[in-house]
Amino acid sequence: MHLGTRLNYPTLAPQQQKRHVMTDSTLSIMQPDPAGLMDAAKLLQAGKLVAFPTETVYGLGADARDDTAVAGIYAAKGRPSFNPLIVHLADQEMGETLCAFNDDAQRLASAFWPGALTLVLPLKPDTGISRLVTAGLQTLAIRVPDHPVAQGLLTAFGGPVAAPSANPSGRVSPTTAAHVAAGLENKIDGLVDGGACGVGLESTIVSCVGAPTLLRAGGIPAEAIAACLNRPLATAADPATPMAPGQLASHYAPNGTIRLNAHTAEKGEVMLGFGPVDAPLNLSPSGDLTEAAARLFDCLHQLDAMAATRIAVSPIPNHGLGVAINDRLRRAAAPRD
Ligand code: TXA
Ligand code: MG
Repeated sequence: MHLGTRLNYPTLAPQQQKRHVMTDSTLSIMQPDPAGLMDAAKLLQAGKLVAFPTETVYGLGADARDDTAVAGIYAAKGRPSFNPLIVHLADQEMGETLCAFNDDAQRLASAFWPGALTLVLPLKPDTGISRLVTAGLQTLAIRVPDHPVAQGLLTAFGGPVAAPSANPSGRVSPTTAAHVAAGLENKIDGLVDGGACGVGLESTIVSCVGAPTLLRAGGIPAEAIAACLNRPLATAADPATPMAPGQLASHYAPNGTIRLNAHTAEKGEVMLGFGPVDAPLNLSPSGDLTEAAARLFDCLHQLDAMAATRIAVSPIPNHGLGVAINDRLRRAAAPRD
């Protein structure tokens, strides 16, 4: 098995690793090798919660057919129960046993899977998917991730894995195993450490129920999806009643408050730069949106680690991946409950 090229990223410090130690309160860290993936798949089969890397962000996985395991995801994240989960699959074939694919869905799956695209499709009857996964909707969000560790785990497990991002609800999504451990250490059973995620932003979500509709900007630019379909994507009309119920106004939030479109830091602010600006943290000094996407959540985690209470962020161009970056920054800056 090729677990490949992505495994050379920084991993947890050895003293944080407790391999094969499993009690209710101890997190078992697994290496992304065949033995580790087999252990992780066994945990999933036993109804446990296992965080694992994908190319977008780390997911917190559970067997999507196991009500108790899925309830455990909501509990670990402190997630509102109305918010449905994405189901991760090893391949499209498994997706077709769960969902009805129309022509648009076929086209998008062929073009972008495996990859950072989630499709919302009509759920077939009697699939065994827990109702807690769909939060009672008649549709299911599915994705085939493009990461050798995620692929290895899904193949070893052999079934559908429900996995939201592996962070406490409302907080910044994790792009390293250390981020996951910092947020959920005592609440989950296993963590496969596959280093840093390459894309760094969650998947783009497109509904193919009716006209293809962009529900969440993400790791694949909407322009690329529209080009594949040869027509523009519809967008959910009213942002106050989003069709992706998880799109809460305040989300992805670091501890400090955020001021957007800032050209310089005011007194007491820490600057998060983009492009050639003088700042202690910079998403991409060269102004590269792909690099900025990959670094965004890590920078927000670093700002928490620096105990930054006020954060000023440079303007980010609003095209390509910049749309998803700005979406996450707006939510990070939104007033909190
Ligand atoms: O990249 C990603 O998508 C990551 C990795 C782990 O795959 N996952 C992720 O999941 O971001 P999560 O749970 O943080 O976000 C899932 C989003 C939520 O906004 C949710 O409301 C929406 O997907 N969603 C799930 N099922 C849906 C459905 N049937 N209809 C509409 N939206 C749905
Ligand atoms: Mg999330």
